[in-house]
Amino acid sequence: METEFLGESLKSPSTLRRIELALQTDGLAVLRGFDADVEQVVALAKKLAPSLLTDHRVEREPHPKTFGAYRVNPGNGEVGLHFELGPTPFRPDLVAFVCVDPGPTTGGATLICDGRKALTRLTPEVRDLLEKRRIRYRLAIPQPVWQGFVGLQDMELPEAIEALRSRFSPSDNIGFSVDPSGFLFLQYADAAITHRSTFSDGIPLLSAIVANKYVGMTVSFADGKPIPMAVFDDIHRAMTAEEERIQWNKGDVAILDNYRVAHGRDAFSGTKREVYTVMANRRAPRPQHAAA
Ligand SMILES: [Fe+2]
Repeated sequence: METEFLGESLKSPSTLRRIELALQTDGLAVLRGFDADVEQVVALAKKLAPSLLTDHRVEREPHPKTFGAYRVNPGNGEVGLHFELGPTPFRPDLVAFVCVDPGPTTGGATLICDGRKALTRLTPEVRDLLEKRRIRYRLAIPQPVWQGFVGLQDMELPEAIEALRSRFSPSDNIGFSVDPSGFLFLQYADAAITHRSTFSDGIPLLSAIVANKYVGMTVSFADGKPIPMAVFDDIHRAMTAEEERIQWNKGDVAILDNYRVAHGRDAFSGTKREVYTVMANRRAPRPQHAAA
């Protein structure tokens, strides 16, 4: 992986510049030899994207000491390629990983896939379809979870609803309602192929997984018509063809452009693997959606 590099200090301006350049050219930076800890990686992520995302999903275990860091998916099973919160309007610009303990010597690698490369692997028919037709997502999200995603976790429900409303512009075409228990029902349409990365200006990317990825989510074409299984299959095939692996050592860091580079995980044995993730936006908390 050509974006791997060894550095003098995680804090030095030259390291930061190299990371920014790697994000721009490759969509990711893999940092080895810094012996980084969770706190340092949160600080680094904030330099690249100042607004940390909080995550209240039940499966997310916050780091005991450092705000903004979460243990990656529990269990030891395989996790397929995905963009973090990709099929939601709360998608973070940047996702960072830091390895505290690599766990077993076999398995447990983090999978990555550059959406720029995957796009070139789609069949012409599927690429054409995804360039022409947008995808509609319908989501149902519990109150603390959606409030965390938009940085409104400390607000009472009525104010949070108003604040959420103010985040969406009419051109976003996001429709939502909140039931008395605080559950958010949200619907929006988005493109699967975008130019929207804030790190890689203007290049086209396969930037969405459109399969039913989260509980409480359904997807279709924007007009409500079902997406043929062959489209999901082709996206899966294209992304798998460009899959690469990050093998972890203690203190390694990976920083990903979450609009460009998808991630996943190989299965491993035991429970020892300890990897933390940090999610952040380059601008103030906002939904990540823009009408395509
Ligand atoms: Fe993830």
